[in-house]
Amino acid sequence: MARRIAVVGSINMDLVTQAPRFPQPGETLLGEGFVTVPGGKGANQAVAAARLGAEVALVGALGSDAFGELLRAGLLREGVNLDHVRRLDEVASGTASITVAGGDNQIIVVPAANARVTPAHVESARQVLARADAVLVQMEIPLEAVEATLRLGRSLGVPVILNPAPARPLPAGWLEQARYVTPNQHELATLLGADPAEDFRALMRRAPVPVVLTRGHEGAWYREQGEPAHQPAFEVQAVDSTGAGDTFNAALGVFLHEGLPVAVRKACAAAALAVTRLGAQQGMPRTHELDAFLAG
Ligand code: RIB
Repeated sequence: MARRIAVVGSINMDLVTQAPRFPQPGETLLGEGFVTVPGGKGANQAVAAARLGAEVALVGALGSDAFGELLRAGLLREGVNLDHVRRLDEVASGTASITVAGGDNQIIVVPAANARVTPAHVESARQVLARADAVLVQMEIPLEAVEATLRLGRSLGVPVILNPAPARPLPAGWLEQARYVTPNQHELATLLGADPAEDFRALMRRAPVPVVLTRGHEGAWYREQGEPAHQPAFEVQAVDSTGAGDTFNAALGVFLHEGLPVAVRKACAAAALAVTRLGAQQGMPRTHELDAFLAG
């Protein structure tokens, strides 16, 4: 039976420029290519989970502009349920201006409609969250909406995976409501009000909630209790790392019922496949591609 995943999060149009390197402040560079592709951490996680065979519902907001229509149509094509995605008047859809150079990226997000997701909007999707096997939430929507998701998931007994990106400090007691938190080292330090240079294993031990920590080329570390365990990264030719973290989180949610070590291994594999193509969603694998990659 398909896993049921609810995603509460952002929907953006990504404006992606390929460049030979990142420009210095005040410098103009000649770029190598430009594409407009669907993105946003919430939408990316929804699409990645759907491609991995889950039944997915997204809670979020779009503007009534042309980007909003394109994004809506794309998500519907991926089979994502949009009953709780609101089209808002007189506001633009979210955008992300992304520069890709040498397999790495720099991103500026303008939240626009995403900034209008409210706790009441999340609450209106209570039935969807109640039916889910896992809920995914990130931090490109207002923090009050993130908190409403954590609180609702907790009260319904549904595991919430909090991807704390982009990193912001959270009020006391919020983090504990998540079943898992999935930061990188910098994000975990921000959440704990700690020095980012502190050993990441020490940070993981101090977190008040189980942590799955992503380390880019080094793979992931995870800890429910005791000592952190390591899952090495899978080696691939990286083209664009945009959306790799979103693919990781989606796979984690979809495969959580197989146990954390298996879910983290599959999440690392899915993320590796995602970086092999330009654009956040282009490289996100389908179940058979993930299975073949893992078997190979
Ligand atoms: O995580 C990648 C995403 O971050 C991009 O798709 C972009 O929209 C930004 O939200």
